[in-house]
Amino acid sequence: MLEAGTDLSYASACLKQGKTVAIPTETVYGLAANALAVTAVAEIFRIKNRPAFDPLIVHVASLEEATPYVALIPDLVKRLYAQLGPGPITYILPKSQRIPDLVTAGHATVGIRIPDHPLTLALLKLLDFPLAAPSANPFGFTSPTTAQHVADQLGSEVAYILDGGPCRVGLESTILDASGDKLKVLRLGGLSLEQLEVAAGRSITEVQLSSSNPQAPGMLTRHYNPGKKLLLGAFPALLANHSLERTALLTFKDYYASFPIQNQYVLAPDGEMSTAASRLFAGLRALAQLDVDLILAESLPEIGLGRAINDRLRRAAAQ
Ligand code: TXA
Ligand code: MG
Repeated sequence: MLEAGTDLSYASACLKQGKTVAIPTETVYGLAANALAVTAVAEIFRIKNRPAFDPLIVHVASLEEATPYVALIPDLVKRLYAQLGPGPITYILPKSQRIPDLVTAGHATVGIRIPDHPLTLALLKLLDFPLAAPSANPFGFTSPTTAQHVADQLGSEVAYILDGGPCRVGLESTILDASGDKLKVLRLGGLSLEQLEVAAGRSITEVQLSSSNPQAPGMLTRHYNPGKKLLLGAFPALLANHSLERTALLTFKDYYASFPIQNQYVLAPDGEMSTAASRLFAGLRALAQLDVDLILAESLPEIGLGRAINDRLRRAAAQ
């Protein structure tokens, strides 16, 4: 029977036995296992139905604790961490031998993340190994932002779901490649490019990856499948061009008075981009469960987290 709760000692016991546990983070829930145990890591790939070419990121409790798992920590990354601390960013760094090739899909680099969630930080402190954890959803589908989302999609497969409540940020981490001379963002995420550039004191390139060159397969053109046809565009123009029969609306700030209210999900009633981010995946799930054939999604302003939200919606629309 599936168990969920806040029992840290049970969660750590499961992980020490090589089992998988769903863990809360500030971004999305992760499907975690001992990153140093190949059989445990293989379970993650099996449960997610994730292709072996897609590397996993490795979670530790502090940047210092990443030392054994990387070849080096560049000074710039130390400076970034000193300012940003635990949070929605993954640093891609040259890996050490201790990280199995299965984790990194054979790449010479490893993604290191220090998640900002009290339960998971406490869990990591009970363990003497780091946790490999992708988002806790079947490959290609929407990421979970509550324990219930995990139970709905992977429930019978995980030994335990550590329930840390709804995820505060709601978008996966920003992936920063710090393994070369220049910083590159491989995936926009919960830390905006603007914030990152301020912390780094320099401009940072955003690499546009294509599905034919998936350096970060989270960047595959088709991802975040909501289970319904979705179209993304500016409102109200998008509404004017479509039949609104059997249709749901995902909007930024406003309800549309002329449209059935039960078929609308407003991402940010307060107009805040961070609110929209935290409600995005739950909103997509809620609308996908309605008896509709089409979701029309309003594109957000291309600033701050709006860029990462539009990125997710674009991929959800590409199914
Ligand atoms: O917020 C997050 O990052 C969440 C939570 C659970 O930490 N995790 C997450 O993992 O989103 P996942 O596996 O769903 O996405 C991680 C992305 C994948 O697109 C993967 O390809 C990329 O990171 N990645 C991992 N290691 C990499 C590496 N060495 N080089 C380039 N990309 C890498
Ligand atoms: Mg994912």
